[in-house]
Amino acid sequence: MPMYHRLGDVPRKRHIQFRENGTLLTEEVMGLEGFTGNESILYHLHSPCRVKELGPFEPIEREEWVPEAHAHRLFDTYEVEPGGDEVTGRRLLMWNDDVEISLCRPTETTEAFFRNGEGDEVVFVHEGSGTLETVFGELPYREGDYVVIPRGTTYRFRPEGEQRYLVFETPGLVEIPRRYRNDSGQLLEGAPYYHRDIHPPARLNTVRERGDFHVKVRVRGGYQTYVVDYHPFDVVGWDGYLYPWTFSIHDFEPITGRIHQPPPSHQTFAGRNFVICSFCPRRLDFDPEAVPIPYHHSNLQSEEMIYYVSGNFGSRKGVNVGSITLHPSGLPHGPQPGLAERSIGLAETHELAVMCDTFHPLRLTSLARGLDDGRYAYSWYENATAPPGTADGDLTGAGVTSHQ
Ligand SMILES: [Fe+2]
Repeated sequence: MPMYHRLGDVPRKRHIQFRENGTLLTEEVMGLEGFTGNESILYHLHSPCRVKELGPFEPIEREEWVPEAHAHRLFDTYEVEPGGDEVTGRRLLMWNDDVEISLCRPTETTEAFFRNGEGDEVVFVHEGSGTLETVFGELPYREGDYVVIPRGTTYRFRPEGEQRYLVFETPGLVEIPRRYRNDSGQLLEGAPYYHRDIHPPARLNTVRERGDFHVKVRVRGGYQTYVVDYHPFDVVGWDGYLYPWTFSIHDFEPITGRIHQPPPSHQTFAGRNFVICSFCPRRLDFDPEAVPIPYHHSNLQSEEMIYYVSGNFGSRKGVNVGSITLHPSGLPHGPQPGLAERSIGLAETHELAVMCDTFHPLRLTSLARGLDDGRYAYSWYENATAPPGTADGDLTGAGVTSHQ
C-alpha cells in the first residue's frame, strides 16, 4: 500500500506467458475493491487454489463482559497469562464491528501458516523481534514495530526471544492517513514519517518443497484449515502496492507546537471508523503560558484506548508499562487533579504509548473483566477515600502523562 515494490522475477508485462524451465507459472492478482483498488501480482510455481484436504472449521467465540457501570477503566495487561502461538495466542480484550484489539504473549511457534481472509492486521511489537515469513518474502521485525499485514497475506512468525504484541484486526483497510499524502500518494513534507521509514519484505525466498502444509484462514467469523501439498511460499516474483510492511514507532516524528497539539497530530494509521496514534518522546509545548498537558475533553463520538509501552508513569497512580486506559464515549476526561498545575514548565515527555480511537462503542470481554482495576473511575475525585474493598485511598497521584 505505501508505494510500488517488486521482489524476485516478473515478466516484462502483465498477463503474458511467464515460464520456469518451460513450465507456465501461475499468475495471481491479489487486489482490493474489485480490480480498482491496490493490488499486487504474484507468480507461483503451483496454483494457490490447489487444496489436498479440507480441514476443520473453528468458529470464533467471544465471551462478552457487560459492566454494571459505564465508567473510565484501567486494565493492567502486563501479567496477562502467556500461551498459544502468534495467532492462537491472541486474547481478545475489546472489540466492535470495525476493530478487534487483542493481547498476545505467545509461548509456542507453529509450523502452520495463517492468512486473514477477512481483515487487515496491525501487530504492534511491544517486546521481541524476529521474522514474519510471508508469501511476499521475509519481513524482519523488532521491538517498537507496527507490522501491517493486509488481508490475503499468507504468513507465519519466526520469533526471536520473548514476544509481546498488541494486535488490531479490522474488516476494513489499514491505511496511511490521506492528509499525509499528495495526489500521487507520496508522503508530504509535513507528514510525521516518510517512505524511508516504511519497510517492505526484505528478501524473497522461493520455497520448492512438497509435503503436507497446513494453512489456517480466517474467514466467515472463524478459522478454516486447509492442507495443501506444496509449500505456500512458492512465489518466484511479485510486484505492486499490496504487501506487508513494518513501521517503527521510534521513527514517528512528533509534531509539537507553542501550545497544545490535539491528538490527530499523533495519528499513525487510518482504519474504518478508527485511528491508531503514536505518542512518542518529544518536547512539550513551549509558550511560557502553555499548559503542556491536555485540556479536559469529551469523547462525544469516540472511545479512546491507550496502551502504555514505556516511559515513566511511576508518578501516575496505577499506570504501568502494559497498562491500558479506556475512556468510553459520553464522558469527559482529562488530567487528574493537580496534574495540570504540576505540568507547567515541563519541557519534555519520555512516554511511548499507542492509542486507538474508535468512532463506535467498544465491547469488552471476560478477559477485560479480569484485568480491570475497578478504581480508575474514582481517580479524578480529589477527596477520594478508598472505595469499598480497596486498600489504597490515595487516588490523586498525579503523574506526568502528555495525553489522556
Ligand atoms: Fe483523550
